[in-house]
Amino acid sequence: MASETLAPPTAAAGPQPARTAKAVSQSMLREVFGLVAASPGTINLAVGLPAEDLFPTAELAEVSARLLAADRRSLQYGIPYQPLKAQVVDLMARRGVACREEQVFLTSGSQQGMDLLVRLFLEPGGTAMFERVVYDGIQMAVKRLEPRLLLMPTNVHTGLDVDSVAEVLAAEAPPAFLYVITDGHNPLGVSLAPEKRPQLVDLARRHRVPILEDDAYGFLYCEDSPAAPPLRAFDEQWVCYLGTFSKILAPGLRAGWVVVPEELVGPLAALKHSADLDTPSFSHRLISAFIETGALPAHLARVRAEYRRRRDAMLGALERHLAGLATWNHPTAGMFVWVELPAGTDTFQLVRTAITEERVAYSPGDAFAAGGSHARHCMRLAFANHTPEQIDEGVARLARAVARAFS
Ligand SMILES: Cc1ncc(COP(=O)(O)O)c(C=O)c1O
Repeated sequence: MASETLAPPTAAAGPQPARTAKAVSQSMLREVFGLVAASPGTINLAVGLPAEDLFPTAELAEVSARLLAADRRSLQYGIPYQPLKAQVVDLMARRGVACREEQVFLTSGSQQGMDLLVRLFLEPGGTAMFERVVYDGIQMAVKRLEPRLLLMPTNVHTGLDVDSVAEVLAAEAPPAFLYVITDGHNPLGVSLAPEKRPQLVDLARRHRVPILEDDAYGFLYCEDSPAAPPLRAFDEQWVCYLGTFSKILAPGLRAGWVVVPEELVGPLAALKHSADLDTPSFSHRLISAFIETGALPAHLARVRAEYRRRRDAMLGALERHLAGLATWNHPTAGMFVWVELPAGTDTFQLVRTAITEERVAYSPGDAFAAGGSHARHCMRLAFANHTPEQIDEGVARLARAVARAFS
């Protein structure tokens, strides 16, 4: 009967995501953020936000008003904004990298750059190589292609274990790419030791494996100058560099770039066009106009000095409150410190009581563990978006939660 065929569909009969879309899950961090939202007053050391108080809002407002008054094309669709490419070439020179405008490709943030490069290199069911503990964004970017993963160990003081990479590359067919965060690793905080950089690039060259170098935090070095240039400085053919304005200006602008061999720019342009029709034109012009004012170097110096102060506050607080209970590394760039508790500790369990009883949150290590639960006893602490006072109070609360778990 007609009435039977028109019966309202059950929830299960509604539109269903594809299996490969369902594979993308961030359940652990979502639960942490849900608990934080329900616990007012929580000091949130979990989330890796850049410092809002350092966004150059007055300068951006001024440049933005000028741009809107003078150039309506800034709100139009458009081809990638050439002047910004020239400015990126200058920025890269400040990272010690020589490149040409023809090798610069503008994106809406490095997450998009990563997604496009993954689509460019990785066949469905192909092989990708990255660290066992790594930024969840790369894990999400590859998941829908259901790759085989070659997962590499990392030393939390010197970075990716290059000897292990060498062993695996000698034994296996070359993966589609190796993804690396050279400086200020997310979540491990570590920067790749200077002597490992040419070794890694040499391996990539010999085995013909493109490196996707994610330099999201490379401009945020804490010392007066970086200890070593990024991998792209050693090779222009096998290193594809991912840069972003998210951490040096503001992530809401959604603007970044990649530097690739110029023959890859065309294929990337086709992929980006299908994703977002070459936007965001407004952000690209706004950033270009901001750089044009000459304000970027002073802004960057301010951000770096403040992040160093906040990092020092976190390392000092860890020493005061957690010595004897945990170990941690000393980041020289970026926004994160990686803390290890005794083996067997369950930091996902602990974060629930840390939030509800002590009003402090962190990211459990396993939120970044690829292919298994091998960072259960670890946590990532983010220091960039908090004052030194908040950091000290947050770590004191954390120490109480940890001490209680062991009592
Ligand atoms: C290592 C790393 N890469 C890329 C991104 C994405 O940044 P964007 O805002 O440029 O997309 C992040 C953001 O946190 C990150 O930590």
